[in-house]
Amino acid sequence: MELKQTYLHVKKTLASAAIDSADLEARMILTHVTGVSVADLILNPDRAVQDDHMQTINGIVARRVQHEPLSKILGEKEFWGLPFTVSADVLDPRPDTETIIEAAIRRFRDNPPQRILDLGTGSGCLIISLLHEFPDAHGVAVDISVDALGIAKTNADKNGVSDRCTFHESDWIESLSAGDADSDTEKYDLIVSNPPYIPNQDIENLSAEVQNHDPILALDGGNDGLNAYKKIIPALNSQMHADGIALLEVGISQAEDVVRIVKDTGLSVRGVHADLGGIPRVVEISFGEK
Ligand SMILES: C[S@@+](CC[C@H](N)C(=O)[O-])C[C@H]1O[C@@H](n2cnc3c(N)ncnc32)[C@H](O)[C@@H]1O
Repeated sequence: MELKQTYLHVKKTLASAAIDSADLEARMILTHVTGVSVADLILNPDRAVQDDHMQTINGIVARRVQHEPLSKILGEKEFWGLPFTVSADVLDPRPDTETIIEAAIRRFRDNPPQRILDLGTGSGCLIISLLHEFPDAHGVAVDISVDALGIAKTNADKNGVSDRCTFHESDWIESLSAGDADSDTEKYDLIVSNPPYIPNQDIENLSAEVQNHDPILALDGGNDGLNAYKKIIPALNSQMHADGIALLEVGISQAEDVVRIVKDTGLSVRGVHADLGGIPRVVEISFGEK
C-alpha cells in the first residue's frame, strides 16, 4: 500500500472504533513506524509502505482499537515538550499536570530552587521537567513502585538529568524522614506531587484507556479520593524549607477539600492554579504569607 492509502485506512479504522483523535493518531502511527515525516505524508503520498512496516502498523491498530492507549503501545509520551518512556507500570503523563511546571516557573523566576522533591514520581515527568527548567537544581524522586522508579530513571537518562536526581523507593516520605531532611539545608525549596486521587468507587467509571492501562496504584485515592493528601500535607512540615512551597495537583472538585486539609495542618494556601480548561488543578502551599 502507499502512504496516503495507509493513512486513510488507519484513520478510518480508528474512527470506527470511536477513537477521538483518529486523524492525529493515524499520523503518529505512520511516522513512528515508517520514519517518514508529517511533511512526507503530504508531499510524497504515493511512496510505498514496506511490508514489514505494514505488519507493524496493523499490529498497532489492532491493539489501539481495543482501547489500549497509543502512548502505551508506542512506549513513549511527550510531556512539557520532552520525550518520556511509558509502560504499564506508570501513569501516562497528562497535559493538566503541566500546570505544576508553569506555576513553579512563575514562582521561582527570580530565585530558582536548589532542592526539589517529587512525591509519587511515576514516569518522572514532573521532576525531570523541573530539572530541565532549573539547571542548577538537584532532585529527589520518590515512588512506592520499584517498577515505576525504573522507568523514571530511564527517563532521567533520556533527558540528560540523571546526574542531578536520586530515586527512592518509599511510602511517601517514610524512608526520607530519617536522614534526608534532618537539617535546614537538606530541606526542599519546592515539593511537587500528583498523587492518586480518584475516589475508589469512581474507578469503574473511568475510560477503558485509563481503567485498564494505568496502574491502580497511580489512580486509587481511597474512599473520598483524599487519602494521599492526608499523608502528604502533614509531611510537608518536616520536608519543606521555611521559604519553600509545595505544588499539589488535585482532581476536579477536590481543591476545596485539599485547601481545608492544608489549613487544618496549620499551613497556608498561597493560591490555587487553574489548568488550561479553567479547572482548579494545583494547590500552592507554604508555611505562611511571604
Ligand atoms: C497519579 S500518579 C503520578 C505520576 C507522575 N508524577 C505524573 O504526574 O504523571 C501517582 C504516583 O504515586 C505513586 N504512589 C502511590 N502511592 C504511593 C505511596 N504511598 N508512596 C509513594 N508513591 C506512591 C504511584 O505509584 C504513582 O506513580
